[in-house]
Amino acid sequence: MKPLDNLDQIRKNDNESWFHPWESMADVGAANRTVISRADGIYVYDETGRRLIDGPGGMWCMQIGYGRQEMADAISKQIMQVPYMNPFSLTSEPSARLAAKLAELAPGDLNHVFLTTGGSTAVDTALRFVQFYNNVKGRNNKKHIISRASAYHGSTYLCSLVTGKDRDKNWFDIGSPFVHFLPSVNPSRRPTGMTMQAFADEKAHDLEAKILELGPENVGVFIAEPIQSSGGVIVPPDGYLRKCWEICRKYDVLYISDEVVTGFGRLGHWFASKDVFGIEPDIIICAKGLTSGYLPLGACLISDRVFSEVSGNNARGATFGHGFTYSGHPVCSVAALKSIEIIERENLLEHVRDVGPYFQARLQELRDIPIVFDVRGMGLVGCVECTVKDIAKDSLAFDSNLGARIDQHCHELGLMLRPIVNQCVFSPPLIITEAEIDLMIEAMREGILRTMRDIEQELGILIG
Ligand SMILES: Cc1ncc(COP(=O)(O)O)c(C=O)c1O
Repeated sequence: MKPLDNLDQIRKNDNESWFHPWESMADVGAANRTVISRADGIYVYDETGRRLIDGPGGMWCMQIGYGRQEMADAISKQIMQVPYMNPFSLTSEPSARLAAKLAELAPGDLNHVFLTTGGSTAVDTALRFVQFYNNVKGRNNKKHIISRASAYHGSTYLCSLVTGKDRDKNWFDIGSPFVHFLPSVNPSRRPTGMTMQAFADEKAHDLEAKILELGPENVGVFIAEPIQSSGGVIVPPDGYLRKCWEICRKYDVLYISDEVVTGFGRLGHWFASKDVFGIEPDIIICAKGLTSGYLPLGACLISDRVFSEVSGNNARGATFGHGFTYSGHPVCSVAALKSIEIIERENLLEHVRDVGPYFQARLQELRDIPIVFDVRGMGLVGCVECTVKDIAKDSLAFDSNLGARIDQHCHELGLMLRPIVNQCVFSPPLIITEAEIDLMIEAMREGILRTMRDIEQELGILIG
């Protein structure tokens, strides 16, 4: 493909005017981001026309792959039919059909679907609903929220309150006496010699101890991602989530499962909570892969059990005073329905269950590189964590941008990844084949080796 001929203008507009998410303020005006000019299948193309495998699948959202003509047709047809309707007082066929479809796909009795504009607004909706629920039930003290270190739940004010990544809170006044964080559940950081089983027990005990410390009558909800994704793809030890869910049941604490990343096939199932981890949460949050990223949409799914306690004869005259102009947007709903239809027709859930283990096994092969510290993942989500901090005295500083350095080399090798500090994160489109996984791993290996050689040169040492 040809390089972009209007690159200078795009760069100028971008550098001068677009204030991006997670903007590094020192670099404003000179960030010179990669310009994505075209996309097709599992590939995106940069400003020079170079083809890159989309390792992060957009931002964990590109399930069905780019360039789907039938998606474009469905969206444009809906735009001409009903581009917008007011969800506060009206409804539309695709929005209502999507709600029913999500209730059908969700586990257990999660039959009440609040449609939102993305993941953060869905998490916000869930947390506000829990507050509303306890107020309607007359349990005005049951307001405390328990979250976990390294959790990421979004960027609205309320979501950032329950996000447990310190880096995301820097420079903001974030903190609430109602929000509590449990320590990290990262198995690769468990004490030496501790079994996974003992670690799972200890981590579940952290939750029970916190509920007892606060008093069960004061704790409203526990919120957890099945796999902590932005926190570095932290896969919990076997049985841990189930134990947490049982503890929540025992103390009448609601359980919110944030499946913004793990939903819609990433782990080979529509939702991972029940099919992978054996739990039936009171509330599930989804977004991202819900529309395969073609349009913004999120959803908050609430169980019959919980919903019935504050509706109908139990409503006490209450209105759930919460909603968005674009709740259940008909065009976004059509995009979700089309994405679900494609996942079903092309058996992409089965496909992920087939290629997921292959992807994980190939990722593990990277462990033989001396600077690779940990490799982890599940299904089609993975993380390679690198470190040089124990190699030479002044090398700690290298760790803070190891991911970015590896990303730069991988870019030249035709692979885009998501660098998070010293971690390289992957969640490729679900349509990826074994042959394409091989290409990813080869580029990744070479990218890490080139980075290691750079560091050897800079430090004047030999690492491996
Ligand atoms: C687990 C989780 N929850 C919530 C969100 C927020 O979603 P959004 O960026 O669509 O608001 C994200 C985004 O990465 C996420 O990973």
